[in-house]
Amino acid sequence: MCGIVGYIGNREAYPILIEGLSALEYRGYDSAGIALVDCGMVNVHKDKGKVDNLRTLTSDCPKPGFTGIAHTRWATHGAPSTINSHPHTDCQNRIAMVHNGIIENYSYLKDKLIKEGVEFVSETDSEVLAQLIGKYYSGDLVRAVRRALSEVEGTFGIAVVACDNPGVLVGARRGSPLVVGVGEEELLLASDASAIVRHTKKVIYLKDNNLIELKNGEYNTTTLDNKKIKPEIHRLEWDADALAKGGFEHFMLKEIFEQPETIKNAMRGRILADDGIARLDGLNLVFQELREINRIIFVACGTSWHAALVGEYMIEELTGIPVEVEYASEFRYRNPIIDSHTLVFVISQSGETADTLAALREAAHKGATVLGICNSVGSTIARETQGGVYLHAGPEIGVASTKAFTSQLTILSLLTLLLGRMRRISHSEGMTIARALQNIPKQVAKILKQNDHIRQIADIYANHNNFLYLGRSYNFPVALEGALKLKEISYVHAEGYPAAEMKHGPIALIDKDMPSVVLALKDSVYDKVISNIQEINARGGKVIAIASEGDKEIEKFVHHVIYIPKTLAMLSPLLSVIPLQLLAYHIAAFRGCEIDQPRNLAKSVTVE
Ligand code: AGP
Ligand code: GLU
Repeated sequence: MCGIVGYIGNREAYPILIEGLSALEYRGYDSAGIALVDCGMVNVHKDKGKVDNLRTLTSDCPKPGFTGIAHTRWATHGAPSTINSHPHTDCQNRIAMVHNGIIENYSYLKDKLIKEGVEFVSETDSEVLAQLIGKYYSGDLVRAVRRALSEVEGTFGIAVVACDNPGVLVGARRGSPLVVGVGEEELLLASDASAIVRHTKKVIYLKDNNLIELKNGEYNTTTLDNKKIKPEIHRLEWDADALAKGGFEHFMLKEIFEQPETIKNAMRGRILADDGIARLDGLNLVFQELREINRIIFVACGTSWHAALVGEYMIEELTGIPVEVEYASEFRYRNPIIDSHTLVFVISQSGETADTLAALREAAHKGATVLGICNSVGSTIARETQGGVYLHAGPEIGVASTKAFTSQLTILSLLTLLLGRMRRISHSEGMTIARALQNIPKQVAKILKQNDHIRQIADIYANHNNFLYLGRSYNFPVALEGALKLKEISYVHAEGYPAAEMKHGPIALIDKDMPSVVLALKDSVYDKVISNIQEINARGGKVIAIASEGDKEIEKFVHHVIYIPKTLAMLSPLLSVIPLQLLAYHIAAFRGCEIDQPRNLAKSVTVE
């Protein structure tokens, strides 16, 4: 999920690797490390913290070596610490490896290796792969990597070196990107081209399940099961800044487009579709309590609070457990009622939000079991909760949260499935939910193809200064989220409302200058929403509808339609929010706003 750089050639590797890591810093990370091969040894330097910290740490020691690998880590297994940082080595220090991604069966492999006498030093999933490669290494690095990878499940982008083989660097990938830079008598390997572009514009994009050996200025590419491949060489056309954003103009847009992948990551290894169940290992310690609880309180702020509202609808409908959703800032000061059958879930992308953290402490103080749904591993909230689930969305850089929201919804759907199957969801209903969830990433990708259409609508409305966002049932929280996105990044006044509430006040605002974005999906409240749209029309208001594919009828009542694929009502927010993210983005872009860092806002709100 984070950064990899590798170098093999006729120059000192250290400065190239460090500079490569700096070029990857925009991705966000928590630790950095480097391994250099020299005189029959691999020398590893690593620590938590920034690349500059690594520079300082290594400033006084010699750093010889023409071959090396380096890493910026975004922790998924084990808190950020020196030991958990990459590179990882095998217990004899013969090989060093950096890894992006998640080894899903690491716990099984780790137990097996421990029984064979292997001593582990870190808590990471990655070390298991390093130890496995070490176990199979007897002079042929490619063979050892291939054999080790045949045993792992999950996602990986890796770079590996061996102490006694300074002329070889091996890379391989499945689900995590790797690109090779082809220079003059030197080769580079990186998780994205921004770490390479200063040295060469000739690159090979490694495909999934491929392995590459870099040796003596040449490369040899095969599939993981050893079939030869002739890779294509591409020419980089972008500069380093554009590359950092993956060619997108802003991180926010890049993150919106990452969602098919990040949603997949949130559910990876957590769905047993044939059994119609979800597995959330981070909750294992409280498994028995999950059976016994009779009330859930979700506590969060902002976008995470909106995700919690969707969670409330899902969990109440499908599990019968009463749910309350609280703003963290309110919860902490209002003496909430908590008993031993209440479960408190805090939801936070950053894991550092001051109000959420204070609410967590308040709930724990009152004796509640407090669990977390977080993106940042090892964050304060992750550390202080008794268990929890990580989003695995990778760093979110744009201040406006997008991919974290859909990952939170994914986790909440899995939680609903888990709790529901313990109670009233049948096997076949469970299977239906699991399969529908697995289908979501493809459906999100389909919505993203309408980016141009959405930009055209944004162009028409970019000069309007007030918007209403309306939705009912599962899509009421999405209306709130759509309005928040627009406010945050375009500074346009927008209000989210339950569609039916409109007639109790906001309808007074409607005229030709106040457009309404209405979530009008073909679900149990469709007819009611259409009536609300008619009420807007009667007052001369313009309507932009988010509608279900195939609903041609709606075109008669609204000014613009953005269609989204059909799914279960409980999962529809995962799809319906995507056009709203894009709409807000494009309106802000047309208004010339500072999209990734809007005024007055911070990515992580660590003050009350
Ligand atoms: C989202 O776009 C906002 N920037 C903000 O509302 C955010 O969701 C809120 O501050 C909570 O952050 P957290 O999830 O990191 O706790
Ligand atoms: N899963 C690995 C870890 O937690 C790799 C994380 C990454 O992709 O940076 O160490």
